[in-house]
Amino acid sequence: MASVSKNFMLSDLVSSEKIDQLPSHYIHPLSQRPNLQDVSHDSIPLIDLHDLYTPNRSHVVQQIGKACSNYGFFQVKNHGVPESTIANMMKIAREFFKLPEEERLKTYSDDPTKTTRSGTSFNTRTDKVANWRDFLRLHCYPLQDYIHEWPTNPASFRDNVAEYCRSARWLALRLIEAISESLGLDGDYISRQLGKHAQHMAFNYYPPCPQPDLTYGLPGHKDLSLITILLQDEVPGLQVLRNGNWVAVDPVPNTFIVNIGDQMQVLSNDKYKSVLHRAVVNCEKERLSVPTFYCPSPDAVIGPASELVTDDEPAVYRKFTYREYYEKFWSIELANEDCLDTFRDSSST
Ligand code: OGA
Ligand code: NI
Repeated sequence: MASVSKNFMLSDLVSSEKIDQLPSHYIHPLSQRPNLQDVSHDSIPLIDLHDLYTPNRSHVVQQIGKACSNYGFFQVKNHGVPESTIANMMKIAREFFKLPEEERLKTYSDDPTKTTRSGTSFNTRTDKVANWRDFLRLHCYPLQDYIHEWPTNPASFRDNVAEYCRSARWLALRLIEAISESLGLDGDYISRQLGKHAQHMAFNYYPPCPQPDLTYGLPGHKDLSLITILLQDEVPGLQVLRNGNWVAVDPVPNTFIVNIGDQMQVLSNDKYKSVLHRAVVNCEKERLSVPTFYCPSPDAVIGPASELVTDDEPAVYRKFTYREYYEKFWSIELANEDCLDTFRDSSST
């Protein structure tokens, strides 16, 4: 059952009262809380994309392939997205969450099929315990289909966010091409599986939290995307599961974090895994992050790449439409089910 009041965003709860104790519906069960002391700072590979279009391309592609199979997560620098585009995006995101609640509630919905919506926690239709996060989610490709739904406040919202979306898509396509090559597939193979393509994004806002060891910004989850490109501010909070341990991905200025999503795990027939990750909160500073979820269009049929299916390595997943996956993802409870399991090919097990 939804435990978060539908017309009361977390950011307003925090700013309207002096909160020194976590309201009880945010307290996760003892066995599921983050152990904030027990975190490694090993981090994840940082890949320089500078040489992606030089004779050294194969070296970069190899590094990307290694990071995808060993970590499912990597950071990129010299990615080609202008610093000003990133700075404008972060500025708009910060301003949006400072708007009065009634302004942000104009787009409020708990319906995941809504293509523009603000909300709180993760999925208030299925969350058993609330999470310390407010968000705005937008669909952003093809831009002309969605931009008219977007907020017009702050005044430059549409211009700045559209500019960022175009850059993020440009980067996503280059990464997808390199990942396709790293799997031994044609550079355009994965892109051709995505139908008309789709791109969604979220603005995540994590206010300072009075008792960060009792709750999450976002609990452990895998992304339903093909790949996710995450922009985060200078406040740490992202953690990635690696060999059973949580690894903090501390912010590096002017980099993006890239991770493999469920659709890439399926297309690669489990060569590249969609990895559990989570966002923890802290008691001092608010934190903002902006993930871009690059996805197939709803009608695209997704399944393991035929070149990666052999007698020794049979198809791990059945074919499905992305629409089917999307609906399933939003109907399950994040903490207790892995959406990928629902799409395993029962004939191969
Ligand atoms: C997400 C996500 C991590 C973060 O939005 O899917 O994993 O650091 N966010 O906010
Ligand atoms: Ni995520």
